[in-house]
Amino acid sequence: MTAPNKKLSSARLTQPTNAFVEEFTASVQFDQRMYQQDIEGSIAHATMLASVDVLTEVERDQIIAGLNIILSEIEEDQFEWSIAQEDVHMNIEARLIALTGEVGKKLHTGRSRNDQVATDVRLYLRDMMTPITAELNRLQTALLNVAEREAETIMPGFTHLQTAQPVTFGHHMMAWYEMLVRDAERMEDCAKRVNSLPLGAAALAGTTFPIDRELTAKLLGFDRICLNSLDAVSDRDFAIEFNSFASILMMHLSRFSEELIIWSSAQFDFVDLGDSFCTGSSIMPQKKNPDVPELIRGKTSRVYGNMFNLFTLMKNQPLAYNKDNQEDKEPLFDTIDTLLGSLRVYADMMAAITVKKDNMRNAALRGYATATDLADYLVRKGVAFRDAHEVVGLSVAYGIKHHKDLSEMSLEELQAFSDQISDDVFDVLTLEGSVAARNHLGGTAPEQVIKAIKVARSQQK
Ligand code: ARG
Repeated sequence: MTAPNKKLSSARLTQPTNAFVEEFTASVQFDQRMYQQDIEGSIAHATMLASVDVLTEVERDQIIAGLNIILSEIEEDQFEWSIAQEDVHMNIEARLIALTGEVGKKLHTGRSRNDQVATDVRLYLRDMMTPITAELNRLQTALLNVAEREAETIMPGFTHLQTAQPVTFGHHMMAWYEMLVRDAERMEDCAKRVNSLPLGAAALAGTTFPIDRELTAKLLGFDRICLNSLDAVSDRDFAIEFNSFASILMMHLSRFSEELIIWSSAQFDFVDLGDSFCTGSSIMPQKKNPDVPELIRGKTSRVYGNMFNLFTLMKNQPLAYNKDNQEDKEPLFDTIDTLLGSLRVYADMMAAITVKKDNMRNAALRGYATATDLADYLVRKGVAFRDAHEVVGLSVAYGIKHHKDLSEMSLEELQAFSDQISDDVFDVLTLEGSVAARNHLGGTAPEQVIKAIKVARSQQK
């Protein structure tokens, strides 16, 4: 029996590894989270080896039984991880050998840690896409619910953060929803390339054993096989692609957060984020800080950082595997954790948000948001757009001077600026009239928002 702590890869070396080097080069501290995928991959590998007669069926069964014991040991916290065994792969293999003796030593036939780790990372990432999709869906549903509830709620729409035209809050929520739809598509697309099997590439050139990679792929649920062994063990573009998707999603959440932060300020006071998503200040008793959106904005930088980390990690590596690649895990795992946490907290936060309709409405009234509507009205009466623009400009100046919104002026007051104005003007000057008039695909009219929500609900997965 081999002692569990005897190094599996050290026969060629005559000197023991320097203690700090051992710790410095180890990855088990952070790659042990892939234990399930590592065991799954080993079971598939052993099954494949038996199918091509490299292992006997008895050997295969002993190996699989041993691996299953290890799986429960790990899950029950009975497994002793050892830095001396360097990484998750060798920890599990050493334990297998300790449990099964000679037969355990046969598992590594026809494979290398290089294709093993590439397989584990892909499997792990694939597995984590399931909870990510679930949280993303939950957030989308929360947005649809708010949008539906607030389909008719009017707020000022902004350009340059200056009041531009009235929009419905439902429409505004649906803008964020649309961005998340594209994010979900990006992840789905990336999943196709993640779900490709490296195992069989062995160290870099393939193996002399008659392996059946199609079988391994089928057993592990991969729908593609990495077709070049050098590429299979060395590239991490799939991780970069995932991180790019994550960066774009976080960029969206960060922009959204920026709005929530502005909207929850005393000056705007458009929304209430709910006490459970805010904190107080240790010194200023009046404060209710929008910590969650602020933190999401901050965490976006982390995900961007991880992306540049991975990009930089890859740019100088010659083919094929280099130890540099061990550094792919922490940024990738950090991105997965950050993304999952951010989506989760966002879904909860959006389910709890309340909207201060009156404040939004008053803000829209204060900003002459229907000025464009008046100009469009004049154009429909035959006034050239540039002339109409000037008439409205003068009316707004008058309104500012007399503290009146356009809709609050009398017909006589308005007619002083153009004789084309008659009493039907008030249909377009009200906030409700303004939003209702933008009644086409993609427009802000409540009717369109309701339609968009229906379509979105029917397409949700
Ligand atoms: N822990 C290593 C990693 O994460 C596994 C592969 C080691 N391969 C090697 N040739 N040293 O990349």
